Amino acid sequence: MNKVLPSLLASDFSKLGEEIKIMEEAGADIFHLDIMDGQFVPNISYGIPVTEAISQASTIPLDVHLMTYNPDQFIETFSKMGVEMVSFHIEATAHAHRTIQLIQSYGMKAGIALNPQTPVEQVKHLLSSLDFVLIMTVNPGFGGQGFINECLDKISDLKSLKDSKGYTFDIEVDGGINDETAALCTAEGANLLVSGSYLFKADDKKGTITKLRG
Ligand code: DX5
Ligand code: ZN
Repeated sequence: MNKVLPSLLASDFSKLGEEIKIMEEAGADIFHLDIMDGQFVPNISYGIPVTEAISQASTIPLDVHLMTYNPDQFIETFSKMGVEMVSFHIEATAHAHRTIQLIQSYGMKAGIALNPQTPVEQVKHLLSSLDFVLIMTVNPGFGGQGFINECLDKISDLKSLKDSKGYTFDIEVDGGINDETAALCTAEGANLLVSGSYLFKADDKKGTITKLRG
């Protein structure tokens, strides 16, 4: 079954605890946490103390999306907070295998994220060791941007590789996901759907999560 991951970047930070509760009651599967360093992407979101607070307030799994250089730096810290999934960008490191192994050594699921301009080819050699692949469908750094349609081809490229080699990784999509774009992505093989602004703006969050899940 497909899963829906609300991106807390789109929440009202002044009442984060309530926002978490509302999404959990609406049936969210996993929370998606966007960590930015102002270097790899042109924005800074939130970091370790806020992630810690989220981990204490939430009862569903957490998926940390690192949009930072030096992704190894806080892996152990995230594991201590009970984070279940961590992804980092292939463009942000020269030693991706090492980071994957580090994440998995703490019992967490390791994912690699690809910017819209990065071809799937670039992570082909990592696919056998990954638990999930995050295909960015916007340029990372901000919520509320428009879905880049050309990224759909990358999802189908990845799905073909997955099927031909018998890999088991999940395919996550992130950026501009609404009920229409979610359906386009799942048709190509995505099964983890991150949604920020669309889901947080929806009046009927339960209905929207059900629709997004497809
Ligand atoms: C963008 C982040 C996304 C973002 C998605 O850099 O990685 O997770 O919060 O937000 P929407 O769904 O509004 O595009
Ligand atoms: Zn994200």
